This record gives sequence, structure tokens and C-alpha cells, in this order.
Amino acid sequence: MKRILLLNGPNLNMLGVREPEIYGTDTLASIEAEVVAYAEGRGAAVDCFQSNHEGALIDRIHEAHGRYDGIVYNPGAHTHYSWALADAIGSVDVPMVEVHISDVDAREDFRKISVFEGVRAGLVKGKGRAGYTEAVDVVLGL
Ligand code: DQA
Repeated sequence: MKRILLLNGPNLNMLGVREPEIYGTDTLASIEAEVVAYAEGRGAAVDCFQSNHEGALIDRIHEAHGRYDGIVYNPGAHTHYSWALADAIGSVDVPMVEVHISDVDAREDFRKISVFEGVRAGLVKGKGRAGYTEAVDVVLGL
């Protein structure tokens, strides 16, 4: 069975409350449950982790080395500046598909930059919560 790590970065624990006109009204818990069930239907197991702390995310990425077949990752605002997280992804043997609920290229200029560009295996953006299950498909197709 393939193993996938679903990571969510800062402020994504606030989904459902946070700027619903941009991010929708669904909670992270409901998205995680959907991803777990969807992946299970495709014969894959998913572990979920969310943190608002860069170091905690780096530790979880390091622990993924040799343990997962892929990472589905919405890095939140870390996308735009955390070279430490990009280095963490580059340090492990696990391909990462980057997900954004919103279309980051259609928003403020600072959101158009992703530090993960050189280390990601795929990108899904602007598809709302459906982007997460699409990213599972990308991981399973790698
Ligand atoms: C986001 C986009 C980021 O720019 C923002 O900081 C987030 C969420 C998205 O899912 O659209 O926290 O990653």
C-alpha cells in the first residue's frame, strides 16, 4: 500500500473561519477526512499533519524520509519565503506535490513566488478543496 503524508502549514487550521470568500467554508478536518477516504479508495494510506510552526514542519518532513511515497503539501504563507522548508523538502527522498486552495498567481504579487518551485514534483492551485484530492492523484501517478 502506498503511503502519503498530507501537510498543511500556518493558518490552515483556521479554514472554515478564515477569509471564507477566498478559502471557502470547509474545515481542515473535513478536507483531511475526504483526502484519507479518497486515497483509501485508491489503495493508499494518508497521515495528516498541520502546524503553524516552521520547525515542527521541518521535523515532520525529515521524519518522512524513507517512510512515504509522496507528500501533499499546502505550505500556506511559508510558500513565499521559507527557504528552510524548501531545503527540508530537497533533503528527503519523498516527492512533494504543492497545493493551494486559491489561485496564488491571480492574487497579490508576493503570492506569485514559491520557494518550492525547484523542489516540487507537481503543483495544483486554484481548485479549492478539490485540489487536495487532485494532488493525491498526481502523487499516485508519479
Ligand atoms: C494558500 C495561499 C497562500 O498564499 C496563503 O498564505 C495561504 C493559503 C492557499 O491555499 O491558497 O495560507 O496556500
